[in-house]
Amino acid sequence: DKAQQDALKKAAGIEAAKLIEDGMVAGLGTGSTVRFLVDELGRRVQEEGLKFTGVTTSRRTQEQAESYGITIVDVDEVDHIDVTIDGADEVDKNFDGIKGGGAALLWEKIVATNSDRIVWIVDESKVVDTIGKFPLPVEVIPFGAGQVVKKFEARGYKPVLRLDAEGQPVRTDENNYVVDLHLEKIEHPQALAEDLITTVGVVEHGLFLNMVDTVIVGDPNGPRVMTN
Ligand code: A5P
Repeated sequence: DKAQQDALKKAAGIEAAKLIEDGMVAGLGTGSTVRFLVDELGRRVQEEGLKFTGVTTSRRTQEQAESYGITIVDVDEVDHIDVTIDGADEVDKNFDGIKGGGAALLWEKIVATNSDRIVWIVDESKVVDTIGKFPLPVEVIPFGAGQVVKKFEARGYKPVLRLDAEGQPVRTDENNYVVDLHLEKIEHPQALAEDLITTVGVVEHGLFLNMVDTVIVGDPNGPRVMTN
C-alpha cells in the first residue's frame, strides 16, 4: 500500500543523503522519492550544519530546498556537479530506465549529463526486467505537437498527450507539452531513443540509457545499494 511504499522511498532517500558531504555541488532530482531526500538534507543543513550547494531539476524541488535554507544555484553557475540524486519511474538490471512521470525529464537530463556521478533512488516496485510498462514521457514543442502525435501513432507508439485535471495540456517547466507512449515493452531502447530525438518537434525523451552509476532500492529488508 501507499504508506508502505512511502516508507521504502523515504529509506532510500535517507540512505542517499549520506552521499552528500561538505563543499559538494549536488544535483537534486524531482518527485515524491526525492522529496524525502531533500527533507533529510534540509535536516542535516539545519541540525548538523552541512554546507553544500544544490542544482535543482524543477521549480518544485527548488522551492522545497530553499525552504530549508539549502543554497541553490543555476546549472550554468557551476563548473561541475559532484553527484546528482534523482528518482525514476522504472529501472532495469542494466540501470537503463524511464523518467518523466512528473514531467521534469528535460531539466533532469540536463543536470544528469553534467554530473560526475548519477544515483537513482527507487522503491522496489520500480525495478523491472524490461522497461516500457510505464508510459514513456516525451517532451514536445507545442507548435505542431498534433503532427508529432500523428507520426508516433503511425509508428505504433500509442501516444497520449498528457492533460491536467482541467483537461488542458500539461506544461513543463519549459512550457512544453508531454506525450506519453504506451509501449508496454521496450526491447531496443537505444534505437527508440534515436528515433525519438531525431523527430522534429521532440525536445527530449524519458529514456535514460547508460547514465546511472548507482541505484538505491528501498526494500523491506533495508535500502539496497547497487553499483554498476
Ligand atoms: C520527474 O519527472 C520524474 O522523472 C521523477 O523522477 C520520477 O517520476 C520519479 O518520481 P517518484 O519518486 O514520485 O516516483
